[in-house]
Amino acid sequence: MYVCICNAVCSDRVAEAIDNGHNDPESVYAACGVRPNCGMCAETIEEMIWSRKAAAMPVPAE
Ligand code: FES
Repeated sequence: MYVCICNAVCSDRVAEAIDNGHNDPESVYAACGVRPNCGMCAETIEEMIWSRKAAAMPVPAE
């Protein structure tokens, strides 16, 4: 699925950038070798960042 249509950047590529420590849309764009155009994808990238951070958090022991 494309996250950034302007630059044809797919979700796998964005996820890889996030997993490599890129924690804001500007950094993700740079990691993907693109620059934002319309900016419509920034919110989706932010959501992916928070979602992947939440998924990576350890579950508290009971
Ligand atoms: S959709 Fe990403 S810059 Fe336009």
